[in-house]
Amino acid sequence: MLSTAATVAPLPLVGEVDPMRAFVTKNHPRPARSPIIRSEVVYESQKQQAAIASLVNEFTILPAKLKEIKDCFKSEMVKGLGKQGETLAMVQTHILGRPNGSETGTYLTLDIGGTYLRVVLIELSQGRKVSTRQKKYAIDPLLKIGEPKLLFDFMASCIDSFLLANEAVIPKESQLDLGFTFSFPVLHTSVNSGTLIDWTKGYNCHGMVGKDPAEFLQQALLSRNLTVNVAALMNDTVGTLLSHAFTYPRTVVGLGLGTGSNAAYIERVDRIGKRDTTVLGNNAEVIAQEMVINVEFGAFDNERTVLPRTMFDNKVDRKSLNPSKQLFEKMIAGMYLGEITRSVLLDLIDNRLLFRGQSSHKLDTPWEFLTEYMSVIEEDSTPDLEEVRRVLEDSLGLGRFESLETQFAAMAETAGLTRGGELPKEPATTLSDRQIVKLVVELVGKRSARLTAAALGGILEHTMGYTWARNEAERQGGVDIGVDGSLHGYYPGYESDLIRGLEELFALEPEMSFLFANDCDSGGFMGKIRLGRCLDGSSTGAALGAALATRSAAQPRADSQRGH
Ligand code: GLC
Repeated sequence: MLSTAATVAPLPLVGEVDPMRAFVTKNHPRPARSPIIRSEVVYESQKQQAAIASLVNEFTILPAKLKEIKDCFKSEMVKGLGKQGETLAMVQTHILGRPNGSETGTYLTLDIGGTYLRVVLIELSQGRKVSTRQKKYAIDPLLKIGEPKLLFDFMASCIDSFLLANEAVIPKESQLDLGFTFSFPVLHTSVNSGTLIDWTKGYNCHGMVGKDPAEFLQQALLSRNLTVNVAALMNDTVGTLLSHAFTYPRTVVGLGLGTGSNAAYIERVDRIGKRDTTVLGNNAEVIAQEMVINVEFGAFDNERTVLPRTMFDNKVDRKSLNPSKQLFEKMIAGMYLGEITRSVLLDLIDNRLLFRGQSSHKLDTPWEFLTEYMSVIEEDSTPDLEEVRRVLEDSLGLGRFESLETQFAAMAETAGLTRGGELPKEPATTLSDRQIVKLVVELVGKRSARLTAAALGGILEHTMGYTWARNEAERQGGVDIGVDGSLHGYYPGYESDLIRGLEELFALEPEMSFLFANDCDSGGFMGKIRLGRCLDGSSTGAALGAALATRSAAQPRADSQRGH
Protein backbone atom coordinates (compact mmCIF):
# COMPACT_ATOMS: atom_id res chain seq x y z
CA MET A 1 0.00 0.00 0.00
CA LEU A 2 1.18 3.57 -0.55
CA SER A 3 2.68 4.57 2.73
CA THR A 4 2.97 8.34 2.24
CA ALA A 5 0.23 10.57 3.51
CA ALA A 6 -0.01 12.05 0.03
CA THR A 7 -3.41 11.57 -1.49
CA VAL A 8 -3.49 9.66 -4.70
CA ALA A 9 -5.37 11.27 -7.51
CA PRO A 10 -8.18 9.09 -8.89
CA LEU A 11 -6.66 7.01 -11.63
CA PRO A 12 -8.23 6.92 -15.05
CA LEU A 13 -9.12 3.50 -16.40
CA VAL A 14 -6.68 2.49 -19.05
CA GLY A 15 -7.81 -0.60 -20.94
CA GLU A 16 -5.64 -2.52 -23.34
CA VAL A 17 -6.61 -4.94 -26.02
CA ASP A 18 -4.92 -8.27 -26.15
CA PRO A 19 -4.17 -8.87 -29.84
CA MET A 20 -4.66 -12.62 -29.49
CA ARG A 21 -8.06 -12.09 -28.01
CA ALA A 22 -8.85 -9.51 -30.65
CA PHE A 23 -8.17 -12.05 -33.37
CA VAL A 24 -10.77 -14.36 -32.01
CA THR A 25 -13.39 -12.08 -30.70
CA LYS A 26 -13.55 -9.06 -32.94
CA ASN A 27 -17.18 -8.15 -32.48
CA HIS A 28 -18.15 -11.27 -30.62
CA PRO A 29 -17.31 -11.03 -26.97
CA ARG A 30 -18.94 -14.39 -26.23
CA PRO A 31 -19.17 -16.45 -29.40
CA ALA A 32 -21.46 -19.44 -29.65
CA ARG A 33 -20.46 -22.83 -30.98
CA SER A 34 -22.13 -23.87 -34.18
CA PRO A 35 -21.77 -27.65 -34.03
CA ILE A 36 -21.43 -29.75 -37.11
CA ILE A 37 -24.37 -32.05 -37.76
CA ARG A 38 -22.60 -35.36 -37.88
CA SER A 39 -25.10 -36.99 -40.25
CA GLU A 40 -24.37 -34.25 -42.76
CA VAL A 41 -20.64 -34.87 -42.97
CA VAL A 42 -19.79 -35.93 -46.51
CA TYR A 43 -17.22 -38.71 -46.39
CA GLU A 44 -15.01 -39.33 -49.38
CA SER A 45 -14.36 -42.97 -48.58
CA GLN A 46 -15.34 -45.67 -46.14
CA LYS A 47 -11.83 -45.69 -44.80
CA GLN A 48 -12.16 -42.01 -44.01
CA GLN A 49 -15.49 -42.54 -42.29
CA ALA A 50 -14.05 -45.37 -40.19
CA ALA A 51 -11.05 -43.23 -39.16
CA ILE A 52 -13.33 -40.40 -38.03
CA ALA A 53 -15.57 -42.81 -36.11
CA SER A 54 -12.51 -44.08 -34.31
CA LEU A 55 -11.44 -40.51 -33.41
CA VAL A 56 -14.94 -39.78 -32.09
CA ASN A 57 -14.65 -42.84 -29.95
CA GLU A 58 -11.22 -41.93 -28.59
CA PHE A 59 -12.03 -38.32 -27.77
CA THR A 60 -15.53 -38.74 -26.34
CA ILE A 61 -15.70 -39.10 -22.58
CA LEU A 62 -18.91 -40.77 -21.49
CA PRO A 63 -20.52 -39.93 -18.12
CA ALA A 64 -19.29 -43.08 -16.35
CA LYS A 65 -15.69 -42.39 -17.36
CA LEU A 66 -16.05 -38.74 -16.38
CA LYS A 67 -17.19 -39.84 -12.95
CA GLU A 68 -14.24 -42.21 -12.63
CA ILE A 69 -11.88 -39.31 -13.45
CA LYS A 70 -13.62 -36.98 -10.99
CA ASP A 71 -13.48 -39.58 -8.22
CA CYS A 72 -9.80 -40.19 -8.85
CA PHE A 73 -9.19 -36.42 -8.82
CA LYS A 74 -10.91 -36.16 -5.44
CA SER A 75 -8.79 -38.88 -3.90
CA GLU A 76 -5.63 -37.29 -5.33
CA MET A 77 -6.63 -34.05 -3.62
CA VAL A 78 -6.82 -35.82 -0.28
CA LYS A 79 -3.41 -37.43 -0.88
CA GLY A 80 -1.88 -34.06 -1.76
CA LEU A 81 -3.30 -32.50 1.41
CA GLY A 82 -1.78 -35.33 3.43
CA LYS A 83 1.83 -34.98 2.44
CA GLN A 84 4.31 -33.07 0.36
CA GLY A 85 5.50 -34.42 -2.98
CA GLU A 86 2.23 -35.96 -4.17
CA THR A 87 1.06 -35.59 -7.78
CA LEU A 88 -1.36 -32.81 -6.89
CA ALA A 89 0.89 -30.33 -5.09
CA MET A 90 -2.07 -28.83 -3.13
CA VAL A 91 0.07 -25.81 -2.28
CA GLN A 92 -0.65 -24.07 1.03
CA THR A 93 -0.69 -20.41 0.13
CA HIS A 94 -0.64 -19.14 3.73
CA ILE A 95 -3.53 -16.88 2.78
CA LEU A 96 -6.03 -17.36 5.57
CA GLY A 97 -9.64 -16.42 5.02
CA ARG A 98 -11.27 -14.59 2.16
CA PRO A 99 -11.44 -10.89 1.50
CA ASN A 100 -14.22 -9.29 3.49
CA GLY A 101 -14.73 -6.22 1.37
CA SER A 102 -13.03 -3.88 3.82
CA GLU A 103 -9.71 -3.99 1.93
CA THR A 104 -8.62 -0.48 1.10
CA GLY A 105 -5.49 1.06 -0.34
CA THR A 106 -3.45 1.45 -3.50
CA TYR A 107 -1.30 -1.47 -4.60
CA LEU A 108 1.01 -2.29 -7.42
CA THR A 109 0.69 -5.71 -9.05
CA LEU A 110 2.86 -7.55 -11.48
CA ASP A 111 1.32 -10.48 -13.31
CA ILE A 112 3.51 -12.67 -15.46
CA GLY A 113 1.57 -14.79 -17.90
CA GLY A 114 2.35 -16.84 -20.99
CA THR A 115 2.86 -14.04 -23.48
CA TYR A 116 2.60 -10.82 -21.53
CA LEU A 117 3.67 -9.27 -18.34
CA ARG A 118 1.20 -6.82 -16.91
CA VAL A 119 1.84 -4.11 -14.35
CA VAL A 120 -1.25 -2.66 -12.73
CA LEU A 121 -1.82 0.00 -10.11
CA ILE A 122 -5.07 -0.77 -8.33
CA GLU A 123 -6.97 1.32 -5.87
CA LEU A 124 -9.30 -0.62 -3.59
CA SER A 125 -11.85 1.04 -1.43
CA GLN A 126 -14.43 -0.59 0.82
CA GLY A 127 -15.29 -3.60 -1.26
CA ARG A 128 -14.80 -1.94 -4.63
CA LYS A 129 -12.01 -1.66 -7.15
CA VAL A 130 -12.06 2.07 -7.65
CA SER A 131 -9.59 2.44 -10.45
CA THR A 132 -6.80 0.78 -12.30
CA ARG A 133 -3.96 1.97 -14.43
CA GLN A 134 -2.16 -0.71 -16.35
CA LYS A 135 0.38 -1.53 -18.97
CA LYS A 136 1.20 -4.74 -20.74
CA TYR A 137 4.66 -5.70 -21.89
CA ALA A 138 5.39 -8.50 -24.37
CA ILE A 139 7.79 -11.10 -23.02
CA ASP A 140 10.64 -11.98 -25.36
CA PRO A 141 10.44 -15.78 -25.84
CA LEU A 142 14.19 -16.02 -25.19
CA LEU A 143 13.67 -14.69 -21.66
CA LYS A 144 11.48 -17.71 -20.92
CA ILE A 145 14.31 -20.18 -21.40
CA GLY A 146 17.35 -18.10 -20.46
CA GLU A 147 19.04 -17.01 -17.24
CA PRO A 148 16.48 -16.29 -14.48
CA LYS A 149 18.28 -13.06 -13.65
CA LEU A 150 17.47 -11.69 -17.09
CA LEU A 151 13.77 -12.51 -16.68
CA PHE A 152 13.58 -10.87 -13.24
CA ASP A 153 15.59 -7.83 -14.38
CA PHE A 154 13.08 -7.47 -17.18
CA MET A 155 10.23 -7.57 -14.66
CA ALA A 156 11.91 -4.88 -12.55
CA SER A 157 12.55 -2.78 -15.65
CA CYS A 158 8.84 -2.93 -16.52
CA ILE A 159 7.96 -1.72 -13.03
CA ASP A 160 10.56 1.01 -13.33
CA SER A 161 9.17 2.27 -16.61
CA PHE A 162 5.59 1.99 -15.33
CA LEU A 163 6.39 4.06 -12.25
CA LEU A 164 8.17 6.62 -14.38
CA ALA A 165 5.21 6.90 -16.74
CA ASN A 166 2.85 7.35 -13.80
CA GLU A 167 4.93 9.74 -11.77
CA ALA A 168 2.05 12.17 -11.72
CA VAL A 169 -0.10 9.85 -9.64
CA ILE A 170 2.51 7.94 -7.66
CA PRO A 171 4.62 10.17 -5.44
CA LYS A 172 8.30 9.36 -5.89
CA GLU A 173 9.11 8.95 -2.23
CA SER A 174 6.29 6.52 -1.56
CA GLN A 175 6.88 2.89 -0.77
CA LEU A 176 4.53 0.63 -2.64
CA ASP A 177 3.39 -2.84 -1.68
CA LEU A 178 3.38 -5.19 -4.62
CA GLY A 179 1.29 -8.29 -5.25
CA PHE A 180 3.33 -10.58 -7.49
CA THR A 181 1.25 -13.00 -9.58
CA PHE A 182 3.60 -15.78 -10.56
CA SER A 183 1.59 -18.43 -12.41
CA PHE A 184 3.79 -21.43 -11.82
CA PRO A 185 3.89 -24.05 -9.07
CA VAL A 186 5.56 -22.65 -5.98
CA LEU A 187 5.93 -24.28 -2.58
CA HIS A 188 5.11 -21.42 -0.22
CA THR A 189 7.09 -20.77 2.91
CA SER A 190 5.03 -17.68 3.71
CA VAL A 191 2.55 -15.45 1.96
CA ASN A 192 5.40 -13.68 0.17
CA SER A 193 8.03 -16.36 -0.23
CA GLY A 194 8.37 -19.85 -1.61
CA THR A 195 10.37 -22.06 -3.90
CA LEU A 196 9.67 -22.92 -7.50
CA ILE A 197 8.61 -26.57 -7.87
CA ASP A 198 8.87 -26.66 -11.67
CA TRP A 199 8.49 -24.46 -14.69
CA THR A 200 5.40 -25.10 -16.83
CA LYS A 201 3.77 -23.67 -19.99
CA GLY A 202 6.91 -23.39 -22.09
CA TYR A 203 9.11 -21.61 -19.51
CA ASN A 204 12.40 -23.17 -18.52
CA CYS A 205 14.90 -20.69 -17.05
CA HIS A 206 17.98 -22.59 -15.90
CA GLY A 207 18.68 -23.26 -12.26
CA MET A 208 15.55 -21.61 -10.92
CA VAL A 209 13.80 -24.71 -9.51
CA GLY A 210 14.09 -24.66 -5.71
CA LYS A 211 14.70 -20.87 -5.66
CA ASP A 212 12.38 -18.13 -4.45
CA PRO A 213 10.86 -16.06 -7.29
CA ALA A 214 9.76 -13.31 -4.88
CA GLU A 215 13.31 -12.97 -3.60
CA PHE A 216 14.65 -12.77 -7.16
CA LEU A 217 12.17 -10.02 -7.93
CA GLN A 218 12.90 -8.16 -4.71
CA GLN A 219 16.63 -8.16 -5.45
CA ALA A 220 16.04 -6.99 -9.02
CA LEU A 221 13.90 -4.12 -7.67
CA LEU A 222 16.51 -3.23 -5.05
CA SER A 223 19.24 -3.13 -7.65
CA ARG A 224 17.22 -0.44 -9.42
CA ASN A 225 16.70 1.42 -6.16
CA LEU A 226 12.96 0.96 -6.40
CA THR A 227 11.16 1.20 -3.06
CA VAL A 228 8.70 -1.52 -3.89
CA ASN A 229 8.03 -4.25 -1.36
CA VAL A 230 7.00 -7.68 -2.65
CA ALA A 231 4.21 -8.16 -0.13
CA ALA A 232 2.50 -11.17 -1.66
CA LEU A 233 3.51 -13.93 -4.03
CA MET A 234 0.59 -15.69 -5.53
CA ASN A 235 -0.65 -17.98 -8.22
CA ASP A 236 -3.00 -16.53 -10.84
CA THR A 237 -5.82 -18.84 -9.77
CA VAL A 238 -5.44 -17.65 -6.18
CA GLY A 239 -5.72 -14.09 -7.48
CA THR A 240 -8.83 -15.01 -9.42
CA LEU A 241 -10.37 -16.59 -6.35
CA LEU A 242 -9.64 -13.60 -4.12
CA SER A 243 -10.79 -11.13 -6.72
CA HIS A 244 -14.09 -12.94 -7.27
CA ALA A 245 -14.62 -13.41 -3.54
CA PHE A 246 -14.14 -9.65 -3.09
CA THR A 247 -17.39 -9.12 -4.99
CA TYR A 248 -19.11 -12.48 -4.46
CA PRO A 249 -18.49 -13.66 -0.91
CA ARG A 250 -19.78 -17.18 -1.62
CA THR A 251 -16.81 -17.86 -3.92
CA VAL A 252 -14.91 -21.04 -3.08
CA VAL A 253 -12.99 -21.74 -6.30
CA GLY A 254 -10.83 -19.68 -8.66
CA LEU A 255 -10.28 -21.31 -12.04
CA GLY A 256 -7.68 -20.35 -14.61
CA LEU A 257 -8.52 -21.63 -18.09
CA GLY A 258 -6.11 -19.99 -20.49
CA THR A 259 -2.62 -20.86 -21.74
CA GLY A 260 -2.39 -23.13 -18.71
CA SER A 261 -5.17 -24.62 -16.60
CA ASN A 262 -5.40 -24.78 -12.84
CA ALA A 263 -7.58 -24.01 -9.81
CA ALA A 264 -7.35 -22.67 -6.28
CA TYR A 265 -10.01 -23.21 -3.63
CA ILE A 266 -10.88 -22.54 -0.02
CA GLU A 267 -9.96 -25.37 2.33
CA ARG A 268 -10.52 -25.80 6.03
CA VAL A 269 -7.18 -25.83 7.86
CA ASP A 270 -7.99 -28.97 9.87
CA ARG A 271 -8.26 -30.93 6.61
CA ILE A 272 -4.69 -30.04 5.61
CA GLY A 273 -2.85 -33.02 7.07
CA LYS A 274 0.55 -31.66 5.99
CA ARG A 275 0.05 -28.25 7.60
CA ASP A 276 3.03 -26.89 9.48
CA THR A 277 1.76 -26.47 13.01
CA THR A 278 4.97 -24.70 14.08
CA VAL A 279 4.07 -21.89 11.68
CA LEU A 280 0.30 -22.02 11.89
CA GLY A 281 -0.21 -23.05 15.50
CA ASN A 282 -2.52 -25.89 16.41
CA ASN A 283 -5.23 -24.43 18.54
CA ALA A 284 -8.92 -24.80 17.85
CA GLU A 285 -9.15 -21.26 16.50
CA VAL A 286 -6.45 -21.84 13.89
CA ILE A 287 -7.69 -25.16 12.64
CA ALA A 288 -11.22 -23.88 12.20
CA GLN A 289 -9.86 -21.25 9.83
CA GLU A 290 -9.79 -21.43 6.05
CA MET A 291 -6.74 -21.37 3.82
CA VAL A 292 -6.52 -20.89 0.08
CA ILE A 293 -5.00 -23.96 -1.58
CA ASN A 294 -3.46 -23.88 -5.05
CA VAL A 295 -4.24 -27.32 -6.47
CA GLU A 296 -1.78 -27.23 -9.41
CA PHE A 297 -4.10 -29.62 -11.19
CA GLY A 298 -2.13 -29.58 -14.44
CA ALA A 299 -0.05 -32.44 -13.03
CA PHE A 300 -3.09 -34.62 -12.35
CA ASP A 301 -2.60 -38.23 -13.50
CA ASN A 302 1.06 -37.86 -14.39
CA GLU A 303 1.12 -41.59 -13.50
CA ARG A 304 -1.24 -42.23 -16.45
CA THR A 305 -3.78 -44.29 -14.53
CA VAL A 306 -7.15 -42.78 -15.36
CA LEU A 307 -7.13 -40.26 -18.21
CA PRO A 308 -8.13 -41.56 -21.64
CA ARG A 309 -4.94 -40.43 -23.36
CA THR A 310 -4.58 -40.80 -27.09
CA MET A 311 -1.45 -41.22 -29.19
CA PHE A 312 -1.90 -37.56 -30.18
CA ASP A 313 -1.57 -36.48 -26.54
CA ASN A 314 1.57 -38.57 -26.26
CA LYS A 315 3.05 -36.93 -29.34
CA VAL A 316 2.40 -33.46 -27.95
CA ASP A 317 3.88 -34.43 -24.60
CA ARG A 318 7.02 -35.91 -26.12
CA LYS A 319 7.79 -32.76 -28.06
CA SER A 320 7.14 -30.42 -25.14
CA LEU A 321 9.78 -28.77 -22.95
CA ASN A 322 8.66 -30.85 -19.97
CA PRO A 323 7.85 -34.39 -21.17
CA SER A 324 5.89 -36.64 -18.78
CA LYS A 325 4.88 -33.65 -16.69
CA GLN A 326 1.64 -31.64 -16.59
CA LEU A 327 -0.13 -34.41 -18.49
CA PHE A 328 -3.64 -33.24 -17.58
CA GLU A 329 -2.81 -29.66 -18.54
CA LYS A 330 -1.53 -30.90 -21.89
CA MET A 331 -4.98 -32.38 -22.65
CA ILE A 332 -6.98 -29.33 -21.64
CA ALA A 333 -5.10 -26.02 -21.70
CA GLY A 334 -5.16 -23.37 -24.40
CA MET A 335 -1.46 -23.73 -25.06
CA TYR A 336 -1.90 -27.33 -26.19
CA LEU A 337 -5.33 -27.69 -27.85
CA GLY A 338 -4.14 -26.39 -31.22
CA GLU A 339 -1.14 -28.69 -31.11
CA ILE A 340 -3.30 -31.74 -30.36
CA THR A 341 -5.56 -30.82 -33.26
CA ARG A 342 -2.55 -30.37 -35.55
CA SER A 343 -1.31 -33.78 -34.58
CA VAL A 344 -4.68 -35.40 -35.42
CA LEU A 345 -4.90 -33.59 -38.75
CA LEU A 346 -1.37 -34.64 -39.75
CA ASP A 347 -2.22 -38.23 -38.97
CA LEU A 348 -5.28 -38.05 -41.24
CA ILE A 349 -3.17 -36.42 -43.94
CA ASP A 350 -0.46 -39.06 -43.67
CA ASN A 351 -3.13 -41.71 -44.15
CA ARG A 352 -4.35 -39.79 -47.22
CA LEU A 353 -7.70 -39.17 -45.53
CA LEU A 354 -7.62 -35.38 -45.63
CA PHE A 355 -6.56 -32.68 -48.11
CA ARG A 356 -5.74 -35.46 -50.58
CA GLY A 357 -2.77 -36.37 -48.48
CA GLN A 358 -1.12 -32.94 -48.81
CA SER A 359 -0.03 -30.85 -45.87
CA SER A 360 1.44 -27.35 -45.87
CA HIS A 361 4.62 -25.90 -44.47
CA LYS A 362 2.64 -24.12 -41.77
CA LEU A 363 0.69 -27.19 -40.68
CA ASP A 364 3.91 -29.17 -40.62
CA THR A 365 5.41 -26.68 -38.19
CA PRO A 366 4.91 -27.40 -34.48
CA TRP A 367 2.66 -24.94 -32.60
CA GLU A 368 1.54 -23.18 -35.80
CA PHE A 369 -2.05 -24.42 -35.53
CA LEU A 370 -3.15 -21.82 -33.00
CA THR A 371 -5.85 -22.58 -30.49
CA GLU A 372 -7.37 -19.28 -31.62
CA TYR A 373 -8.08 -20.90 -35.01
CA MET A 374 -10.17 -23.46 -33.20
CA SER A 375 -12.45 -20.74 -31.85
CA VAL A 376 -13.00 -19.39 -35.35
CA ILE A 377 -13.68 -22.89 -36.69
CA GLU A 378 -16.10 -23.73 -33.87
CA GLU A 379 -18.05 -20.57 -34.50
CA ASP A 380 -18.44 -20.98 -38.26
CA SER A 381 -22.11 -21.49 -39.14
CA THR A 382 -21.90 -20.78 -42.88
CA PRO A 383 -23.20 -23.62 -45.11
CA ASP A 384 -19.86 -23.95 -46.94
CA LEU A 385 -17.77 -23.40 -43.82
CA GLU A 386 -16.24 -20.23 -45.19
CA GLU A 387 -14.45 -19.31 -41.98
CA VAL A 388 -12.94 -22.78 -41.81
CA ARG A 389 -11.77 -22.27 -45.37
CA ARG A 390 -10.23 -18.94 -44.42
CA VAL A 391 -8.23 -20.51 -41.60
CA LEU A 392 -7.15 -23.55 -43.59
CA GLU A 393 -6.34 -21.87 -46.88
CA ASP A 394 -5.40 -18.30 -45.99
CA SER A 395 -3.79 -18.77 -42.60
CA LEU A 396 -2.34 -22.26 -42.97
CA GLY A 397 -1.77 -22.41 -46.73
CA LEU A 398 -3.63 -25.71 -47.09
CA GLY A 399 -5.26 -26.86 -50.29
CA ARG A 400 -2.77 -24.84 -52.34
CA PHE A 401 -0.77 -27.89 -53.09
CA GLU A 402 1.48 -27.83 -55.98
CA SER A 403 0.79 -30.80 -58.16
CA LEU A 404 3.48 -31.42 -60.79
CA GLU A 405 0.99 -30.23 -63.37
CA THR A 406 0.51 -26.96 -61.49
CA GLN A 407 4.23 -26.51 -61.04
CA PHE A 408 4.91 -27.03 -64.76
CA ALA A 409 2.10 -24.67 -65.64
CA ALA A 410 3.49 -22.04 -63.27
CA MET A 411 6.95 -22.43 -64.81
CA ALA A 412 5.46 -22.17 -68.27
CA GLU A 413 3.67 -18.98 -67.31
CA THR A 414 6.84 -17.50 -65.81
CA ALA A 415 8.70 -18.38 -69.02
CA GLY A 416 6.03 -16.53 -71.00
CA LEU A 417 4.83 -19.70 -72.72
CA THR A 418 1.29 -19.35 -71.44
CA ARG A 419 -0.81 -16.39 -70.39
CA GLY A 420 -1.87 -15.78 -66.79
CA GLY A 421 -5.20 -17.26 -65.89
CA GLU A 422 -4.51 -20.44 -67.85
CA LEU A 423 -3.17 -22.29 -64.87
CA PRO A 424 -5.14 -25.45 -64.21
CA LYS A 425 -7.61 -24.70 -61.45
CA GLU A 426 -6.76 -26.84 -58.42
CA PRO A 427 -9.69 -27.27 -56.12
CA ALA A 428 -8.58 -25.99 -52.73
CA THR A 429 -10.00 -27.63 -49.59
CA THR A 430 -13.19 -29.58 -50.16
CA LEU A 431 -16.33 -29.24 -48.07
CA SER A 432 -15.62 -32.70 -46.75
CA ASP A 433 -12.11 -31.61 -45.65
CA ARG A 434 -13.56 -28.61 -43.86
CA GLN A 435 -16.30 -30.61 -42.16
CA ILE A 436 -13.78 -33.12 -40.90
CA VAL A 437 -11.49 -30.40 -39.57
CA LYS A 438 -14.45 -28.84 -37.78
CA LEU A 439 -15.40 -32.17 -36.29
CA VAL A 440 -11.86 -32.82 -35.05
CA VAL A 441 -11.70 -29.36 -33.50
CA GLU A 442 -15.00 -29.97 -31.73
CA LEU A 443 -13.77 -33.27 -30.33
CA VAL A 444 -10.61 -31.71 -28.91
CA GLY A 445 -12.40 -28.62 -27.52
CA LYS A 446 -15.25 -30.53 -25.94
CA ARG A 447 -12.94 -33.08 -24.35
CA SER A 448 -11.04 -30.24 -22.73
CA ALA A 449 -14.17 -28.68 -21.24
CA ARG A 450 -15.43 -32.04 -19.94
CA LEU A 451 -12.13 -32.92 -18.33
CA THR A 452 -12.10 -29.53 -16.68
CA ALA A 453 -15.60 -30.34 -15.40
CA ALA A 454 -14.21 -33.51 -13.82
CA ALA A 455 -11.59 -31.49 -11.93
CA LEU A 456 -14.01 -28.75 -10.89
CA GLY A 457 -16.61 -31.37 -9.91
CA GLY A 458 -14.00 -33.07 -7.74
CA ILE A 459 -13.12 -29.80 -6.00
CA LEU A 460 -16.76 -28.88 -5.41
CA GLU A 461 -17.62 -32.28 -3.99
CA HIS A 462 -14.52 -32.23 -1.79
CA THR A 463 -15.44 -28.86 -0.30
CA MET A 464 -19.20 -29.36 -0.10
CA GLY A 465 -20.31 -29.30 3.52
CA TYR A 466 -16.97 -27.82 4.65
CA THR A 467 -16.62 -24.42 3.03
CA TRP A 468 -20.02 -24.21 1.33
CA ALA A 469 -23.37 -25.93 1.67
CA ARG A 470 -22.70 -26.32 5.40
CA ASN A 471 -26.35 -25.78 6.24
CA GLU A 472 -29.68 -25.42 4.51
CA ALA A 473 -29.30 -21.70 3.92
CA GLU A 474 -25.91 -22.21 2.29
CA ARG A 475 -27.26 -25.03 0.17
CA GLN A 476 -29.98 -22.73 -1.06
CA GLY A 477 -27.47 -19.97 -1.68
CA GLY A 478 -25.26 -22.16 -3.88
CA VAL A 479 -21.69 -21.38 -4.71
CA ASP A 480 -19.67 -18.95 -6.83
CA ILE A 481 -16.69 -19.86 -8.95
CA GLY A 482 -14.47 -17.16 -10.43
CA VAL A 483 -13.07 -18.04 -13.85
CA ASP A 484 -10.34 -16.24 -15.76
CA GLY A 485 -8.62 -17.16 -18.98
CA SER A 486 -9.26 -16.96 -22.68
CA LEU A 487 -10.60 -20.50 -23.10
CA HIS A 488 -13.51 -19.75 -20.82
CA GLY A 489 -13.87 -16.21 -22.04
CA TYR A 490 -13.64 -16.75 -25.77
CA TYR A 491 -13.79 -20.40 -26.78
CA PRO A 492 -17.26 -21.04 -28.23
CA GLY A 493 -19.33 -23.41 -26.16
CA TYR A 494 -16.62 -24.01 -23.58
CA GLU A 495 -18.64 -22.82 -20.63
CA SER A 496 -21.78 -24.70 -21.63
CA ASP A 497 -19.82 -27.94 -22.11
CA LEU A 498 -18.23 -27.41 -18.73
CA ILE A 499 -21.59 -26.88 -17.06
CA ARG A 500 -23.14 -29.84 -18.85
CA GLY A 501 -20.25 -31.99 -17.64
CA LEU A 502 -20.85 -30.86 -14.05
CA GLU A 503 -24.56 -31.55 -14.37
CA GLU A 504 -23.88 -35.07 -15.62
CA LEU A 505 -21.43 -35.70 -12.81
CA PHE A 506 -23.63 -34.41 -10.02
CA ALA A 507 -26.69 -36.20 -11.37
CA LEU A 508 -24.77 -39.38 -10.53
CA GLU A 509 -24.18 -38.32 -6.89
CA PRO A 510 -27.24 -38.49 -4.62
CA GLU A 511 -25.71 -36.09 -2.05
CA MET A 512 -25.50 -33.40 -4.74
CA SER A 513 -29.18 -33.70 -5.65
CA PHE A 514 -30.00 -30.45 -3.80
CA LEU A 515 -28.29 -28.65 -6.69
CA PHE A 516 -31.06 -29.71 -9.02
CA ALA A 517 -33.96 -28.65 -6.82
CA ASN A 518 -35.94 -26.23 -8.88
CA ASP A 519 -37.42 -24.36 -5.95
CA CYS A 520 -38.66 -20.85 -6.47
CA ASP A 521 -36.02 -18.24 -7.20
CA SER A 522 -33.09 -20.68 -7.07
CA GLY A 523 -32.65 -20.64 -10.82
CA GLY A 524 -32.06 -24.41 -10.90
CA PHE A 525 -28.60 -25.91 -11.33
CA MET A 526 -27.01 -22.88 -12.94
CA GLY A 527 -28.46 -20.66 -10.25
CA LYS A 528 -26.65 -22.73 -7.62
CA ILE A 529 -23.36 -23.42 -9.40
CA ARG A 530 -22.49 -19.98 -10.70
CA LEU A 531 -19.47 -19.63 -12.97
CA GLY A 532 -18.54 -15.96 -12.99
CA ARG A 533 -16.27 -14.47 -15.59
CA CYS A 534 -13.43 -12.78 -13.83
CA LEU A 535 -11.31 -11.48 -16.68
CA ASP A 536 -7.91 -10.29 -15.51
CA GLY A 537 -8.99 -11.09 -11.97
CA SER A 538 -5.50 -12.23 -11.13
CA SER A 539 -4.20 -8.66 -10.93
CA THR A 540 -6.98 -7.46 -8.64
CA GLY A 541 -6.47 -10.63 -6.66
CA ALA A 542 -2.77 -9.87 -6.28
CA ALA A 543 -3.68 -6.43 -4.90
CA LEU A 544 -6.05 -8.11 -2.46
CA GLY A 545 -3.35 -10.60 -1.55
CA ALA A 546 -1.00 -7.69 -0.83
CA ALA A 547 -3.75 -6.07 1.25
CA LEU A 548 -4.38 -9.28 3.21
CA ALA A 549 -0.64 -9.78 3.67
CA THR A 550 0.01 -6.25 4.89
CA ARG A 551 -3.04 -6.56 7.13
CA SER A 552 -1.49 -9.58 8.78
CA ALA A 553 1.82 -7.65 8.98
CA ALA A 554 4.01 -9.75 6.74
CA GLN A 555 7.70 -9.06 6.96
CA PRO A 556 8.57 -6.26 4.56
CA ARG A 557 10.92 -7.55 1.93
CA ALA A 558 12.37 -4.30 0.70
CA ASP A 559 14.51 -4.16 3.86
CA SER A 560 15.76 -7.64 3.30
CA GLN A 561 19.29 -7.84 2.01
CA ARG A 562 19.38 -11.60 1.69
CA GLY A 563 21.22 -12.76 -1.40
CA HIS A 564 19.95 -15.50 -3.64
C1 GLC B 1 0.15 -23.73 -15.09
C2 GLC B 1 0.88 -23.34 -13.81
C3 GLC B 1 -0.10 -22.91 -12.75
C4 GLC B 1 -1.02 -21.83 -13.31
C5 GLC B 1 -1.70 -22.32 -14.57
C6 GLC B 1 -2.61 -21.26 -15.19
O1 GLC B 1 -0.60 -24.86 -14.83
O2 GLC B 1 1.64 -24.43 -13.34
O3 GLC B 1 0.59 -22.42 -11.63
O4 GLC B 1 -1.97 -21.50 -12.35
O5 GLC B 1 -0.72 -22.68 -15.51
O6 GLC B 1 -1.92 -20.12 -15.53
